[in-house]
Amino acid sequence: MKSIASAPAKIILFGEHFVVHGTPAILAAIDKRVTVSSTFTENGTVKINSELGTLEVSISSLYKYKEVKSEFRPFVYLTNKMIDSNQNVKGLEITINSDIPIGVGLGSSSACCVATTASISGLFKELSSEEILKMSIEAEKTIFPDTSGADCTVCTYGGMIEYPSVEKIDNTFDLNLLIVNSMIPHNTKNSVEKVNKFKENDEERFSQLCDLETKLIDEVITAMKNNDATTFGLKMSENQKYLEEIQVSNDTLRDMISSLNEISLGSKITGAGDGGCVIALVKDENMDKVPALLPKDKECFSAKIDTKGVVWKIEK
Ligand code: MEV
Repeated sequence: MKSIASAPAKIILFGEHFVVHGTPAILAAIDKRVTVSSTFTENGTVKINSELGTLEVSISSLYKYKEVKSEFRPFVYLTNKMIDSNQNVKGLEITINSDIPIGVGLGSSSACCVATTASISGLFKELSSEEILKMSIEAEKTIFPDTSGADCTVCTYGGMIEYPSVEKIDNTFDLNLLIVNSMIPHNTKNSVEKVNKFKENDEERFSQLCDLETKLIDEVITAMKNNDATTFGLKMSENQKYLEEIQVSNDTLRDMISSLNEISLGSKITGAGDGGCVIALVKDENMDKVPALLPKDKECFSAKIDTKGVVWKIEK
C-alpha cells in the first residue's frame, strides 16, 4: 500500500514578515508541487529519500529528531509522532519529489511538511485539512520556531487567502503574475531574526509599519473587489517600500524590481527576501519584453493560482 500526497508552492502577495508580528497577509498557492509517497517496510527503520539525499533512522531513535540535520528534521518529527501512536509499525519509506525550487521563498519547506503529513497519516488514519495543517506547522517549527504558519496554511487550503482566514478570495481580474528567481538562496529564519532586531531597536516605527501594512491589505481587498489591477500593482510597490525599510532587500533585488517596474503595474519581493524571488504584475502585452530586461542568470516563469491545496490518495 502506498499513500501519496501532494501540496503546492506559495507566493506572498502582501504582508510577509509583518504577518509574523500579527498583521494579516495575502498569499496564493501556485502551480508547482511537491509529491510525497509513503509505504510500510519491514526494516525497523524510517528511510527518507529526497533530492537533498537519503536519511535512514532506526524506529527506536526517531524520538531524537532534534539531533537530525535540519533538512530532514520535520520528517523525522512527523514519523516519530505518527508511529508512536501506532505501535505495530515495523518500518516506513518516504520519498519526496519536488518541482519547487528550494530556499527561494516559494514555500518548499512548508509544502514538504504539509504533503508529508498527509502522506504518512494516509497510511494510518485520514486526517482533516485542519489536522494536517496543525501537524505540519508543528513539524516546520522544528526548524523555524517563529513561523507565522501562513505558508503551511495556504499550501494546505490552496487558492488565494487573506491569512489568518482560510476562506478563498475570489479575485475578479486575471492576475498575470511573473515570478523571477534572483538565484540567491536565503535563510528565512535569519531574515525573520533580522526583522525581530529591527523591531527591538525601533518598536514605535515597527508598529507604525504594521498598521500601514494592515491598511494596505484592506485597500488591496477593495481593489480586487473593484477589478482594479492598477491599484493592486501600486500597492505591491508600496509594500516593497516597507520591506526595504525593514532591510530584507538588497542591491540585486532592487535592480530586478526597478527593471520590472518598467513593464509592470507593480513588483516586490515575495517571501523572506535577502535573496529568493520577486513577483511582478505584468500586463499580457508586456510579457515578451521580460527576458531582455533581466540579467541572463535569473530564472523567470508565470505563476497560475492553484485552487486545490493538499491532495492525497491511497494506491493498493
Ligand atoms: C516566509 O515565506 C514568510 C515570512 O513572513 C515568515 C513567516 O510568515 O513565517 C517571512
